[in-house]
Amino acid sequence: MKIAITGASGKTGYRICEEAVKKGFNVRQIIRKNSKVSDGLESLETFRVSLQNKKELDKALQDIDALIIATGARASLDLTGPAKVDALGVFRQLESCKRVGIKRVILVSSLCSGKLFHPLNLFGFILIWKKIGENFLKNPSFEWTIVRPGGLKENEDIKSENINYSKEDTQINGSIPRRLVAQLCINSLKNKESINKLIEVTSSNNNKKISFKKAMQMI
Ligand SMILES: NC(=O)c1ccc[n+]([C@@H]2O[C@H](COP(=O)([O-])OP(=O)(O)OC[C@H]3O[C@@H](n4cnc5c(N)ncnc54)[C@H](OP(=O)(O)O)[C@@H]3O)[C@@H](O)[C@H]2O)c1
Repeated sequence: MKIAITGASGKTGYRICEEAVKKGFNVRQIIRKNSKVSDGLESLETFRVSLQNKKELDKALQDIDALIIATGARASLDLTGPAKVDALGVFRQLESCKRVGIKRVILVSSLCSGKLFHPLNLFGFILIWKKIGENFLKNPSFEWTIVRPGGLKENEDIKSENINYSKEDTQINGSIPRRLVAQLCINSLKNKESINKLIEVTSSNNNKKISFKKAMQMI
């Protein structure tokens, strides 16, 4: 199975690439023209595209069986970033998927997506645009999975972290290491029970350990 990962130069994106390679997937990373390829991923097939360029995007998604979207507006003074990347950017990627025939898509979104009164919205109403991006994906054209993580952490020591999986709009606080989110995206790809599900995730060492498969049966 050949998969593409957009936002592969990001802190979650590169970990998704690493986890996908570990699990034996054939991986193509899709990044921006000026993105830095993450250390250790130099040998992966790499396409550099602008999300605004239909032709480039279609070419980058050609011959791909599944797409994992890990793009997200980077914090900046440009408050239009979330609208451009988290809504329109997702829309453009999905339109390209339709043109080239990709059905399976996994989107990394965010806990509290859709909430209006939230401090994160000081950055260009990001949670509203994320929800709009999610809604583009919840469409019969796709076999979709939406992953909504809590605050993302850089720690790689995940041995004692157990995931709290839950349905849409059930968690509002908490955090999770990016490594666990990356593993979760790859688990979703491998498990058909994650199709057409929205999964909220945080982690801590207080949660009971539960398998991904079992979690999907509960959601
Ligand atoms: N930070 C948190 O605590 C948190 C919590 C929940 C959910 N999330 C969401 O989880 C996802 C991953 O977060 P992260 O912090 O790991 O990401 P990140 O390190 O900020 O990486 C973002 C990725 O998106 C790409 N990107 C940004 N603008 C783009 C554009 N206009 N066109 C194409 N690509 C673009 C970046 O490319 P460049 O490398 O070229 O900039 C990078 O690859 C994001 O959607 C984020 O909103 C974050």
